[in-house]
Amino acid sequence: MRPVAILWRTCQGGPTRMGVPVAQRLQRIPPYPFREVAMLKKQLVAEGKHIYDFGIGDPDMPTPRFVIDALYEAAQDPATHQYDESGYGIQEYKQAIADFAKDRFGVDVNPDGEIQSCIGSKEALAHIVWSYVDPGDVVLVPDPAYSVYKVQTMWCGGAPFPMPLDPQRGFLPDLEAIPLGVRRQAKLLFLNYPNNPTGAVATREFLAEAVEFAHKWGLIICHDAAYCEVAYDGFEPPSILEIDGAKQVAIEFHSFSKTFNMTGWRVGWAMGGKEIIEALSRTKSNVDSGTFMAIQRAAIAALAHYREWIPGLRAEYQRRRDALVDGLRSLGWPVEPPKATFYVWTPVARGYTSIEFSKTLLEQAGVLTIAGSAYGDYGEGYVRWSLTIQAADKLGTIQAAVGAIREKLRLSW
Ligand SMILES: Cc1ncc(COP(=O)(O)O)c(C=O)c1O
Repeated sequence: MRPVAILWRTCQGGPTRMGVPVAQRLQRIPPYPFREVAMLKKQLVAEGKHIYDFGIGDPDMPTPRFVIDALYEAAQDPATHQYDESGYGIQEYKQAIADFAKDRFGVDVNPDGEIQSCIGSKEALAHIVWSYVDPGDVVLVPDPAYSVYKVQTMWCGGAPFPMPLDPQRGFLPDLEAIPLGVRRQAKLLFLNYPNNPTGAVATREFLAEAVEFAHKWGLIICHDAAYCEVAYDGFEPPSILEIDGAKQVAIEFHSFSKTFNMTGWRVGWAMGGKEIIEALSRTKSNVDSGTFMAIQRAAIAALAHYREWIPGLRAEYQRRRDALVDGLRSLGWPVEPPKATFYVWTPVARGYTSIEFSKTLLEQAGVLTIAGSAYGDYGEGYVRWSLTIQAADKLGTIQAAVGAIREKLRLSW
């Protein structure tokens, strides 16, 4: 076969000439869950069904003008067009992050060595695992959780140990319930507050307990704070670095994705102890070549406008949260409003599994949610609603979805 024909067949999704199998480590990994949700939605829309989409958590509002303008200006400067050879991020970007950390959390982070620029936080969450986990190492992962912590651990040949997030404990893991043998073998402890998918928040007391635990058992806390700025009712989610002694044992991951509607821009940062940041940086420098420097400059502009921007963002999601929670409560659903994140985590009706319930909502009422079990075994019994709504009329969509459920479904708890 001529090379062009081979290339064409490969692009069409046909077998490659040699039928090369993918690596065993990739074969062990399930497909990224949201790819399947996106495909299901596409299929239903193609069939002409109207969908009220509360599925994937991807902000529907545009990136603010001041960020776009800053990118436009920065992209015209040829100095931004080359590799960012600093490895950690340009100095002005790291300084802006250090200033933000001081202003927002009251913590001192040294721009030289305690901050790492990231291509969105997902990338860094993956690479921290690659930096520390050898085959057989234990990683403590919350369940339910964002899939990356567990999947990357498996990818490295490590052993994820689930920490159930129990509603009775405010969806905070019970560290004392982790068996002694597991604690001794564990290298990393993943936490994520404000939490996806439960919407739970961590108290400073819990974060202090986790820091003490990490010191005692010699492990590193990886705190995913991607939703740190999406909070309600005046609540300000804390940083784990506010806790005394945290820096020696913790790294925290932040993102512009949800705070400034910048999911597609792929920009974030990690901050924490120098040794941990250095390990992440070593991995990254062998895999990627940093964030486009014009985007780093745009991110500086985002942080410079944080104080005037964030109240409007929070108010918008709070309106949506209240509309959804009030609407579902009017149907008799036992729903708690989250204090943060743009997720509402609701128990399923009596007699349903998570998957059955989300399927019923979709097929009977056209309401797309994500089955809690997609986030782990302990997500069973729940579905997740994202308040990011693509339709133009946000509150109208929420009301219409609640109306469709009222009309089509008879449920009990
Ligand atoms: C809990 C959590 N962490 C991290 C991320 C990754 O965000 P990004 O890579 O866009 O910063 C997501 C994305 O949905 C998330 O839900």
